[in-house]
Amino acid sequence: MNRTILLTGGGGFVAGNIISQNRSRDIIEAVEQRAVPILSDNLTWHILDLQDSAQLRRLFHRVKPDVIIHTAAISDIDYCEAHQEIAESVNVGVTRTLVDLCVESNVRLIYFSSDSIFNGQKGRYVEEDIPEPLHFYGRTKVAGEKIVQQGCHDWVVIRPSLITGLPLLDSGNSFLWRLINELKQGKKAAFPKEEIRSPVDAVTLSRAVLELAENDFQGILHLAGNDTLTRFEIARQIVRKLGYSLDLVVDKEPQVTTSRAPRPRDVSLDNTKARKVLKTPMLDLGEALDLIIENKGDKEL
Ligand SMILES: NC(=O)c1ccc[n+]([C@@H]2O[C@H](COP(=O)([O-])OP(=O)(O)OC[C@H]3O[C@@H](n4cnc5c(N)ncnc54)[C@H](OP(=O)(O)O)[C@@H]3O)[C@@H](O)[C@H]2O)c1
Repeated sequence: MNRTILLTGGGGFVAGNIISQNRSRDIIEAVEQRAVPILSDNLTWHILDLQDSAQLRRLFHRVKPDVIIHTAAISDIDYCEAHQEIAESVNVGVTRTLVDLCVESNVRLIYFSSDSIFNGQKGRYVEEDIPEPLHFYGRTKVAGEKIVQQGCHDWVVIRPSLITGLPLLDSGNSFLWRLINELKQGKKAAFPKEEIRSPVDAVTLSRAVLELAENDFQGILHLAGNDTLTRFEIARQIVRKLGYSLDLVVDKEPQVTTSRAPRPRDVSLDNTKARKVLKTPMLDLGEALDLIIENKGDKEL
């Protein structure tokens, strides 16, 4: 069945991958704050600050979505710590408006939370573990989750682990793309050995989200790869796969500065539920990197 998807954060890293992976005839109505030079079949752009709830409401009633995929957020952890008012307004306030619209019109909402809602003391977190964020960004994500769970009739909360992948444009929150740009210039890249994650690739994540847009699963879902690795090990696997020298990955000393929000140590996620619920397979990091390379388009790696 053709569905109409309202996709927020359209110009961002993850949303660009969702647009690329939309192989069905779903119509995507993508929202972004500035013009985005991506054209494809069944894709329409709407330029809008999501904080303008009156305009958002008008757009919602015009496009009449079957499902909203809400990726938009202020996703820079340190920026959120330093600019809490705007982080609250975008990450929590916009979610509240979208929940109200979904309830009024009985629309399904897929909300992007994060692995960063956990305190990192345990690792291999399951969906039932209690969130206890260490920073403001994590607190806004927990607040968004609660609004969705308590308000919506038809909802999914996705908690992605660290996302590896290529942005459709050169912008967005992709650490892999930043790393590749450093490697190309022969620069050393520093990654912490004490931060443990279970990286998921943006292609698998996007396929899983599009699957969730079509099925009737409700609840919280951890979308994570099968491997639990330090960020240092993740970077080394990437560098090896891309054929650069391993000497370019160096250990990043823990930074204790007032401008850097604290990071949780081990927020690896258990993906057992995702493997049961979804047809989209969750991958090991090596397989995920192959998939990213297969889907690289015209990007030079
Ligand atoms: N990347 C990761 O590793 C990761 C891990 C876990 C969870 N997540 C979550 O996954 C989601 C997608 O992340 P991402 O990496 O794709 O982030 P991203 O690249 O930073 O994209 C976020 C998008 O939201 C847009 N946006 C922000 N404020 C807006 C506003 N007021 N009105 C309209 N659009 C607005 C941004 O537009 P501008 O560029 O114009 O500001 C940007 O295009 C986020 O909710 C993030 O918290 C990401």
